[in-house]
Amino acid sequence: MIELKAITKIYPGNPPYEVLKSIDLDVLEGEFLSIMGPSGSGKTTLLNIIATLDQATGGKVVINNQDVSKMDEDYLSLLRLKTIGFVFQDFNLLPPLTVIENIMLPMTLDKASTSESRKKARDLMAELDISSLENKRITEISGGEKQRVAIARALINDPKIILADEPTGNLDSKAAGDVMTILAEMNRLKRVTTVMVTHDAISASYSERVMFIKDGQFYNEIHCGNKREVFYQSILDVLAHLGGTNHDFQTTRYS
Ligand SMILES: Nc1ncnc2c1ncn2[C@@H]1O[C@H](COP(=O)(O)OP(=O)(O)OP(=O)(O)O)[C@@H](O)[C@H]1O
Ligand SMILES: [Mg+2]
Repeated sequence: MIELKAITKIYPGNPPYEVLKSIDLDVLEGEFLSIMGPSGSGKTTLLNIIATLDQATGGKVVINNQDVSKMDEDYLSLLRLKTIGFVFQDFNLLPPLTVIENIMLPMTLDKASTSESRKKARDLMAELDISSLENKRITEISGGEKQRVAIARALINDPKIILADEPTGNLDSKAAGDVMTILAEMNRLKRVTTVMVTHDAISASYSERVMFIKDGQFYNEIHCGNKREVFYQSILDVLAHLGGTNHDFQTTRYS
């Protein structure tokens, strides 16, 4: 579903800054991958390149069997609207709109009918257990609820891929657990390929594979076996070897 070949990224400047140094990555259809690494290691840059929001300096990006370098800006916009759903740390919801209007937005942008969009939004709200919030304003709901609204919005156009940058970064451990349960469930039920950047070992343990990067390079990767608990411990072990400050990773336990 996602194929990166020898991706490099150099930010111009004096001197230029090479933030990604030849990253290769294959994400299979339906897979749930986490990307971890110290602050400044290039995680968001990498996710933005996959999202086609940023361009690599070198290498090749293939999304859903299409080479993005061969797409013009109109086609890229369409790809972002129809094929990719986005979830951000700070939710990126529109406060003047209600919950259901926020969720419907990508369908509205895609010129779907209001009745069809409303029905789809209501189905998703039921799945994500936020039906009671339908007519609330964004300012009237909690952080965990905001992130569930954002996930519903990300899913409304039936994307093939969900990209999430620190989706639990602004949440307490209970809300983070709820959001991760939903992301993992949607990945499993809808087979939506999911790539998530996170500092949180517990959040990462909900995924099937964790890729670690350090200084813009591949460092290690580990797969989840049968037990999430064991996977969580393995993630902590790699993080301990990876280095970085305590500030870089949240490793506290939640029940
Ligand atoms: N537009 C830009 N121009 C120049 N340098 C940039 C730009 N964006 C990011 N950088 C630099 O590239 C490096 C990687 O940034 P990036 O945001 O990808 O890191 P990250 O791994 O997501 O970090 P964090 O965990 O803190 O979110 C950082 O040193 C950052 O300062
Ligand atoms: Mg980042």
